[in-house]
Amino acid sequence: MPDHERHPFLHGLSKHRGAPPTVVVIFGASGDLTARKLTPAIYNLALDGLLPADFFLIGYGRKPMPDAEFQQLSVDAIKEFSRRELRDDVWARLAPRTLYVSGGYDEPAAFTRLAQKIAELEKQIGQDLQALFYISTPPSVFAPIIQNLGAAGLAARHLGKPTQSKVIIEKPFGRDLASAKALNQELTSVFEESQVFRIDHYLGKETVQDLLVQRFANAIFEPLWNRNFVDHVQITVAEEVGVEARAGYYEQSGALRDMIQNHTMQLVALTAMEPPVSLDAEAIRDEKVKLLRAIQPLRLDGAASDVARAQYDDGILGGKPVPGYLREKDVTPGSTTETFAALRLSINNWRWHGVPFYIRSGKRMARRVTEIAIRFKRAPGNIFADSDRFQLAANTLAFQIQPDEGMSMILNAKIPGLETRTQPVKMNFKYATTFGSNTPEAYERLVLDAMIGDGTLFIRGDETERSWELMTPILEHWREQKRAGLDSYTAGSWGPKSADALLAANGHSWREP
Ligand code: NDP
Ligand code: BG6
Repeated sequence: MPDHERHPFLHGLSKHRGAPPTVVVIFGASGDLTARKLTPAIYNLALDGLLPADFFLIGYGRKPMPDAEFQQLSVDAIKEFSRRELRDDVWARLAPRTLYVSGGYDEPAAFTRLAQKIAELEKQIGQDLQALFYISTPPSVFAPIIQNLGAAGLAARHLGKPTQSKVIIEKPFGRDLASAKALNQELTSVFEESQVFRIDHYLGKETVQDLLVQRFANAIFEPLWNRNFVDHVQITVAEEVGVEARAGYYEQSGALRDMIQNHTMQLVALTAMEPPVSLDAEAIRDEKVKLLRAIQPLRLDGAASDVARAQYDDGILGGKPVPGYLREKDVTPGSTTETFAALRLSINNWRWHGVPFYIRSGKRMARRVTEIAIRFKRAPGNIFADSDRFQLAANTLAFQIQPDEGMSMILNAKIPGLETRTQPVKMNFKYATTFGSNTPEAYERLVLDAMIGDGTLFIRGDETERSWELMTPILEHWREQKRAGLDSYTAGSWGPKSADALLAANGHSWREP
């Protein structure tokens, strides 16, 4: 089969999604995210023939670099981080379209040079290019980049046309409600909301998207998905890694900002929201915001507190000793940054009133796993036992978001034999078994969606503000409390006792995912 048939990028416009002619401009192009995720994502889109025929990539950064050096950086990143091997013929097409512009993030003249570069490319191909600006820098320069894009006329390019400019903005989106609002204002003073794509890479994960399919493409779940049948919900986002070399960032962040405000709250919203009227981005985002608004302010003090936070201590992971957080490189002595947070959420609507949603996320936990578990109410009584003391297991539907992606259901079954005895059994579905394991990376999907202007898997401004509105009082309370109430957990464990207590108060306990 000739190459152009297998790889439409080599030949022409993608048949599948139809992005217009595009130039992706990455700010912070010499950085870690660009190398590990963004360049490999673009390469994999090229490999699948999903890039438009007229596609260019411009890296932008302060470090002066000829195009050839950026091309070398890019091909090295693909070789090291791409989920699929480098194909010389695909790279041969992409390489001459991989360019570099150097300049400061607060240097208006450099943005004028960038605008000229894009205009030259348009002249070269004889048509308009959509410019997709990907801001992949530390947040300290988000605002100057946005302002300079506006001042150079780059934000308003081809406004109202399919080739109008778009901007992807990386996390963290603010550090509290006030800063998130300020950043939203900054963005919307230059771009229209429809041009803005706030990234949360969890939404690009296949299994997170499948959550919507499972919920709304299968008729059996909806009748059970409410307070009449669900006892409680548990969401765990556990990581094995510690703070690694990122203490500089993490010390300013902590688990609540880094993982709960964004990724975990998105999982809550998708699990609990009402069915959207369509798959349209606004329809889905409207439902998520409605759900976030129904979450009650959390209680922060005393025995009824809905929150727990902790730091990891020395422990053992993968059979090896690992240091506690305070002994990690670049961590401030006596730091009170939480590496684990757990919340008990109450959702005040008809569907979920009285059903606790327990969420937790931490570093250096026993195993890397993200799971959403729906725990159903027990069957009434137990006709299979002589005494009421023997309870049947509660049915649990668990979505294994990562790794080992799949779904499982705990049911009660009869143990074969002449007596009637029951045992909980697990019904399992694994993505890898059914679909194979080489699924697209989150960033592939997200870059492609932004190119075609589909905001479904991105966060709307009001969504992020509502989530910060819920988190900010917790952050303020913890800041006032300093070390008081900061629990600890052994690295390699499932978290602190205070997180167990959140559930024990309702007679519940964390399931081991
Ligand atoms: P880096 O620290 O690698 O920075 C990216 C680039 O920004 C650098 O190569 C540098 O380019 C420029 N830069 C670095 N520090 C400064 C500074 N103080 N002032 C101005 N420019 C600076 O960041 P990452 O690539 O790791 O992350 C980029 C964004 O993506 C961040 O917002 C991060 O929170 C987010 N993110 C990153 C993830 C990751 O895995 N790395 C995961 C999820 C989100 P130059 O000197 O050439 O201008
Ligand atoms: C990032 C956080 O957003 O998500 C990191 O900043 C975390 O601290 C990472 O490690 C986890 O992402 P994933 O996709 O590996 O679960």
